Amino acid sequence: MLLKTLLLALASTLAWSADALAQAPIVIKFSHVVASDTPKGKGAERFKELAEKATKGRVKVELYANSTLYKDKEEMEALQLGAVQMLAPSLAKFGPLGVKEFEVFDLPYIFPSKDVLNRVTEGPIGKDLMKKLESKGITGLAFWDNGFKVMSANKPLLVPADFKGLKMRVQASKVLDAQMRALGANPQVMAFSEVYQALQTGVVDGTENPPSNVYTQKMHEVQKNLTVSNHGYLGYAVIVNKKFWDSLPADVRGQLEGAMKDASKYSNAIAQQENDQALEAIRKSGKTAIHVLTDAEKVEWRKVLVPVQKAMEDRIGKDLIASVNKESAALGFK
Ligand code: LMR
Repeated sequence: MLLKTLLLALASTLAWSADALAQAPIVIKFSHVVASDTPKGKGAERFKELAEKATKGRVKVELYANSTLYKDKEEMEALQLGAVQMLAPSLAKFGPLGVKEFEVFDLPYIFPSKDVLNRVTEGPIGKDLMKKLESKGITGLAFWDNGFKVMSANKPLLVPADFKGLKMRVQASKVLDAQMRALGANPQVMAFSEVYQALQTGVVDGTENPPSNVYTQKMHEVQKNLTVSNHGYLGYAVIVNKKFWDSLPADVRGQLEGAMKDASKYSNAIAQQENDQALEAIRKSGKTAIHVLTDAEKVEWRKVLVPVQKAMEDRIGKDLIASVNKESAALGFK
């Protein structure tokens, strides 16, 4: 009798645990390095909201903004190890992973407009780039926009000669390294989370980023001058650990793909406006003098920076660069 009671109790405990297990949500840890109040931060929040709703709570998305979980380099390693499931690194951060082709996005003046960029990210070039991630154990889900970059320092940066000898923080991209050298500066690779302090203490003299990142990291408080140069682009690839993604029940994966599609639309729709507002907020702060390049200055910047496209052909692929330039030509840019 006692044995029977014990067995029944055990059976019911086991059934309960199996039930609890079946109902335990699938957790997606989504880590990124920027503030929540940015195009990427807001896109991530929208994805969480839509994903949890679409899966009726079967999936729980945990967001870790502002490098609270991992910094730049660590987050890529953590994704490959499966310690985190989702990231949205900037396109400049895929080189160290061995996918150098992503650095095509870093080439100075490669995108004369956002329309050209969209043709690249939404067309066959974007698809091919995402495919290259698979051999690294990564699935690419979407491209998210941020914007064109500004340059900052504690001196006005009007012409390339103004960069001479300046230590400029860059992301871990060989193209950005070459870009800064072409301007006469000394590039220094550094994690995003360390930039504010490095600027404040003078470890580096200046940096580049779209205004949304400058403002939300308060970089403008430690940079007296900012130049609206739009010399290069910064955007993201939302990526997941492939093994994790492939192991999801097909219906859940489909719901998450839908949520990602809508979150991407949202993030891409707000990016320009977020950057315009951030630039305005920097201006209003009165802490940083803002200079917009004149046409004559633009000519000088282009003279030293456009050749970086050619110089990087061996690294990125001549054909890839040509195919991006073809998208520009298709829209009437030469
Ligand atoms: C950086 O400068 O590292 C930024 O691109 C970070 C980001 O993800 O926007």
